[in-house]
Amino acid sequence: MARPHVVAHVAIALDGATTGFAPAVGRFYELAATWAEDVTLAGADTILAQEPALRAAPRRQAPVGAPLLAVVDSRARVREWEALGSVGHWSGVLALRAAATPPRPHHAVPELVAGAECVDLAEALTALGEHHGARVVRVDSGGGLIGALVRRGLLDELSLLVHPLLAGPGQQSWHGGAQASAAAFELIAAEALERDLVWLRYRVG
Ligand SMILES: NC(=O)c1ccc[n+]([C@@H]2O[C@H](COP(=O)([O-])OP(=O)(O)OC[C@H]3O[C@@H](n4cnc5c(N)ncnc54)[C@H](OP(=O)(O)O)[C@@H]3O)[C@@H](O)[C@H]2O)c1
Repeated sequence: MARPHVVAHVAIALDGATTGFAPAVGRFYELAATWAEDVTLAGADTILAQEPALRAAPRRQAPVGAPLLAVVDSRARVREWEALGSVGHWSGVLALRAAATPPRPHHAVPELVAGAECVDLAEALTALGEHHGARVVRVDSGGGLIGALVRRGLLDELSLLVHPLLAGPGQQSWHGGAQASAAAFELIAAEALERDLVWLRYRVG
Protein backbone atom coordinates (compact mmCIF):
# COMPACT_ATOMS: atom_id res chain seq x y z
CA MET A 1 0.00 0.00 0.00
CA ALA A 2 1.25 3.53 -0.80
CA ARG A 3 2.02 6.05 1.91
CA PRO A 4 -1.24 7.56 3.22
CA HIS A 5 -2.46 11.08 2.44
CA VAL A 6 -1.11 13.27 5.26
CA VAL A 7 -3.00 16.43 6.21
CA ALA A 8 -2.16 18.83 9.03
CA HIS A 9 -5.16 20.78 10.34
CA VAL A 10 -4.11 23.52 12.73
CA ALA A 11 -5.62 26.54 14.44
CA ILE A 12 -3.37 29.58 14.15
CA ALA A 13 -3.26 33.28 14.97
CA LEU A 14 -2.34 35.85 12.30
CA ASP A 15 1.31 35.61 13.37
CA GLY A 16 1.35 31.86 12.74
CA ALA A 17 1.19 30.94 16.43
CA THR A 18 -0.47 27.70 17.51
CA THR A 19 -0.36 28.59 21.20
CA GLY A 20 -1.08 31.67 23.34
CA PHE A 21 -4.72 32.19 22.30
CA ALA A 22 -8.10 30.51 22.73
CA PRO A 23 -8.98 28.78 19.45
CA ALA A 24 -12.54 28.22 18.26
CA VAL A 25 -12.43 24.60 19.39
CA GLY A 26 -15.92 23.58 18.27
CA ARG A 27 -15.37 24.95 14.75
CA PHE A 28 -11.86 23.46 14.64
CA TYR A 29 -13.11 19.92 15.27
CA GLU A 30 -16.14 20.36 13.04
CA LEU A 31 -13.74 21.17 10.18
CA ALA A 32 -11.39 18.36 11.23
CA ALA A 33 -14.19 15.90 10.42
CA THR A 34 -13.69 16.86 6.73
CA TRP A 35 -11.04 14.17 6.27
CA ALA A 36 -12.60 11.32 8.29
CA GLU A 37 -9.06 10.17 8.98
CA ASP A 38 -8.09 6.57 9.64
CA VAL A 39 -5.26 7.67 11.92
CA THR A 40 -4.83 10.81 14.01
CA LEU A 41 -1.10 11.50 14.31
CA ALA A 42 -0.04 13.56 17.33
CA GLY A 43 3.27 14.86 18.62
CA ALA A 44 4.27 13.86 22.13
CA ASP A 45 4.28 17.49 23.30
CA THR A 46 0.68 17.97 22.19
CA ILE A 47 -0.33 14.96 24.28
CA LEU A 48 1.80 16.03 27.26
CA ALA A 49 0.05 19.42 27.25
CA GLN A 50 -3.28 17.56 27.62
CA GLU A 51 -2.26 14.99 30.22
CA PRO A 52 -3.64 16.82 33.30
CA ALA A 53 -7.04 17.18 31.58
CA LEU A 54 -6.90 13.61 30.29
CA ARG A 55 -6.50 12.21 33.79
CA ALA A 56 -9.80 13.83 34.81
CA ALA A 57 -11.70 13.25 31.56
CA PRO A 58 -14.79 10.99 31.62
CA ARG A 59 -14.34 7.57 30.00
CA ARG A 60 -16.69 6.56 27.19
CA GLN A 61 -16.93 4.19 24.26
CA ALA A 62 -15.52 5.45 20.96
CA PRO A 63 -18.04 5.51 18.09
CA VAL A 64 -17.82 2.87 15.38
CA GLY A 65 -15.27 3.95 12.80
CA ALA A 66 -13.32 6.21 15.18
CA PRO A 67 -9.70 6.68 14.08
CA LEU A 68 -6.63 5.15 15.66
CA LEU A 69 -4.42 7.58 17.62
CA ALA A 70 -0.70 7.27 16.83
CA VAL A 71 1.70 9.33 18.94
CA VAL A 72 5.30 10.10 17.92
CA ASP A 73 7.10 9.42 21.19
CA SER A 74 10.80 8.62 20.62
CA ARG A 75 11.69 9.45 24.21
CA ALA A 76 8.85 7.51 25.92
CA ARG A 77 7.57 10.65 27.63
CA VAL A 78 3.81 10.07 27.26
CA ARG A 79 2.15 8.51 30.32
CA GLU A 80 -1.62 8.68 29.89
CA TRP A 81 -2.07 5.85 27.38
CA GLU A 82 -4.98 4.32 29.26
CA ALA A 83 -6.85 7.65 29.29
CA LEU A 84 -6.10 8.30 25.61
CA GLY A 85 -7.62 4.95 24.74
CA SER A 86 -10.72 5.48 26.90
CA VAL A 87 -11.89 9.06 26.31
CA GLY A 88 -14.05 8.08 23.36
CA HIS A 89 -12.21 9.88 20.55
CA TRP A 90 -10.12 6.98 19.24
CA SER A 91 -10.62 3.31 18.54
CA GLY A 92 -7.19 2.56 19.96
CA VAL A 93 -3.74 4.00 20.65
CA LEU A 94 -0.33 3.25 19.17
CA ALA A 95 3.05 4.56 20.32
CA LEU A 96 5.51 5.26 17.50
CA ARG A 97 9.01 4.59 18.78
CA ALA A 98 12.56 4.12 17.55
CA ALA A 99 14.96 1.30 18.30
CA ALA A 100 16.71 3.52 20.89
CA THR A 101 13.49 4.52 22.70
CA PRO A 102 13.63 3.59 26.39
CA PRO A 103 11.22 0.83 27.49
CA ARG A 104 7.90 1.77 29.12
CA PRO A 105 7.47 -0.98 31.70
CA HIS A 106 4.52 0.59 33.52
CA HIS A 107 2.64 1.85 30.49
CA ALA A 108 1.55 -1.03 28.31
CA VAL A 109 0.64 0.26 24.84
CA PRO A 110 1.01 -1.25 21.37
CA GLU A 111 4.14 0.09 19.68
CA LEU A 112 5.30 0.55 16.12
CA VAL A 113 9.10 0.65 15.73
CA ALA A 114 10.45 2.89 12.95
CA GLY A 115 13.95 4.36 12.92
CA ALA A 116 17.09 4.02 14.98
CA GLU A 117 17.60 7.06 17.25
CA CYS A 118 14.26 8.82 16.76
CA VAL A 119 11.10 7.92 14.89
CA ASP A 120 11.67 7.78 11.13
CA LEU A 121 8.51 9.58 10.01
CA ALA A 122 8.53 8.28 6.43
CA GLU A 123 8.94 4.69 7.59
CA ALA A 124 6.27 5.15 10.26
CA LEU A 125 3.75 6.57 7.77
CA THR A 126 4.37 3.71 5.34
CA ALA A 127 3.92 1.20 8.17
CA LEU A 128 0.66 2.88 9.22
CA GLY A 129 -0.57 2.34 5.68
CA GLU A 130 0.68 -1.22 5.37
CA HIS A 131 -0.13 -2.59 8.82
CA HIS A 132 -2.97 -0.37 10.05
CA GLY A 133 -4.88 0.28 6.82
CA ALA A 134 -4.31 4.04 6.96
CA ARG A 135 -5.30 5.86 3.79
CA VAL A 136 -5.70 9.26 5.46
CA VAL A 137 -3.62 10.52 8.39
CA ARG A 138 -4.63 13.79 10.07
CA VAL A 139 -1.83 15.46 12.00
CA ASP A 140 -2.99 17.08 15.24
CA SER A 141 0.12 18.72 16.66
CA GLY A 142 2.10 21.89 16.94
CA GLY A 143 5.00 23.04 14.77
CA GLY A 144 7.46 20.49 16.15
CA LEU A 145 5.92 17.58 14.29
CA ILE A 146 4.41 19.56 11.39
CA GLY A 147 7.80 21.22 10.73
CA ALA A 148 9.55 17.83 10.74
CA LEU A 149 7.01 16.52 8.20
CA VAL A 150 7.41 19.60 5.97
CA ARG A 151 11.23 19.31 6.02
CA ARG A 152 11.01 15.69 4.86
CA GLY A 153 8.42 16.36 2.15
CA LEU A 154 5.87 14.18 3.95
CA LEU A 155 3.00 16.66 4.22
CA ASP A 156 0.44 16.46 1.40
CA GLU A 157 -2.11 19.01 2.61
CA LEU A 158 -2.14 21.93 5.04
CA SER A 159 -5.35 23.26 6.59
CA LEU A 160 -5.17 26.48 8.58
CA LEU A 161 -8.02 27.87 10.65
CA VAL A 162 -6.82 31.46 10.95
CA HIS A 163 -7.94 33.50 13.97
CA PRO A 164 -7.93 37.33 13.72
CA LEU A 165 -5.48 38.14 16.52
CA LEU A 166 -1.77 38.25 17.31
CA ALA A 167 -0.63 35.78 19.96
CA GLY A 168 2.57 37.73 20.61
CA PRO A 169 6.18 36.74 21.23
CA GLY A 170 7.35 33.44 22.65
CA GLN A 171 4.64 31.26 21.09
CA GLN A 172 5.05 28.12 18.96
CA SER A 173 4.54 28.54 15.22
CA TRP A 174 2.73 25.96 13.07
CA HIS A 175 5.82 25.36 10.87
CA GLY A 176 8.45 24.99 13.58
CA GLY A 177 10.91 27.11 11.58
CA ALA A 178 10.72 24.99 8.40
CA GLN A 179 11.30 26.81 5.09
CA ALA A 180 9.44 26.34 1.81
CA SER A 181 8.99 28.46 -1.33
CA ALA A 182 5.66 29.70 -2.70
CA ALA A 183 5.85 26.88 -5.25
CA ALA A 184 5.35 24.38 -2.43
CA PHE A 185 1.83 25.59 -1.56
CA GLU A 186 -1.11 25.49 -3.97
CA LEU A 187 -4.30 27.06 -2.63
CA ILE A 188 -7.22 24.65 -2.99
CA ALA A 189 -9.84 26.43 -0.86
CA ALA A 190 -10.33 29.67 1.07
CA GLU A 191 -13.45 30.34 3.07
CA ALA A 192 -14.43 33.23 5.34
CA LEU A 193 -16.28 31.96 8.40
CA GLU A 194 -18.08 33.46 11.39
CA ARG A 195 -16.29 35.91 13.69
CA ASP A 196 -13.67 36.75 11.01
CA LEU A 197 -12.18 33.26 11.05
CA VAL A 198 -10.68 32.16 7.72
CA TRP A 199 -10.21 28.53 6.64
CA LEU A 200 -7.36 28.01 4.19
CA ARG A 201 -6.46 24.72 2.52
CA TYR A 202 -3.26 24.14 0.53
CA ARG A 203 -1.95 21.21 -1.46
CA VAL A 204 1.70 20.84 -0.45
CA GLY A 205 4.12 19.79 -3.15
N1 LIG B 1 -3.35 25.29 17.53
C1 LIG B 1 -3.48 24.01 17.24
O1 LIG B 1 -4.24 23.63 16.31
C2 LIG B 1 -2.71 23.00 18.04
C3 LIG B 1 -2.84 21.64 17.72
C4 LIG B 1 -2.11 20.74 18.47
C5 LIG B 1 -1.27 21.18 19.48
N2 LIG B 1 -1.19 22.50 19.77
C6 LIG B 1 -0.29 22.99 20.83
O2 LIG B 1 1.04 22.84 20.36
C7 LIG B 1 1.91 22.60 21.47
C8 LIG B 1 2.78 21.40 21.16
O3 LIG B 1 3.39 21.59 19.93
P1 LIG B 1 4.95 21.36 19.75
O4 LIG B 1 5.29 21.92 18.43
O5 LIG B 1 5.70 21.87 20.95
O6 LIG B 1 5.10 19.81 19.79
P2 LIG B 1 4.41 18.59 18.99
O7 LIG B 1 4.42 18.84 17.53
O8 LIG B 1 3.18 18.18 19.66
O9 LIG B 1 5.49 17.47 19.35
C9 LIG B 1 6.73 17.47 18.71
C10 LIG B 1 6.87 16.06 18.17
O10 LIG B 1 7.64 16.07 17.02
C11 LIG B 1 8.57 15.01 17.11
N3 LIG B 1 9.70 15.38 16.27
C12 LIG B 1 10.28 16.60 16.17
N4 LIG B 1 11.26 16.56 15.25
C13 LIG B 1 11.27 15.29 14.77
C14 LIG B 1 12.06 14.62 13.79
N5 LIG B 1 13.04 15.25 13.12
N6 LIG B 1 11.81 13.31 13.54
C15 LIG B 1 10.83 12.66 14.21
N7 LIG B 1 10.05 13.25 15.15
C16 LIG B 1 10.28 14.55 15.41
C17 LIG B 1 8.87 14.88 18.59
O11 LIG B 1 9.31 13.60 18.83
P3 LIG B 1 9.87 13.06 20.25
O12 LIG B 1 8.76 12.30 20.84
O13 LIG B 1 10.99 12.21 19.85
O14 LIG B 1 10.31 14.22 21.05
C18 LIG B 1 7.51 15.12 19.19
O15 LIG B 1 6.73 13.93 19.23
C19 LIG B 1 1.02 22.37 22.68
O16 LIG B 1 1.04 23.53 23.48
C20 LIG B 1 -0.34 22.14 22.08
O17 LIG B 1 -1.37 22.55 22.94
C21 LIG B 1 -1.88 23.41 19.06
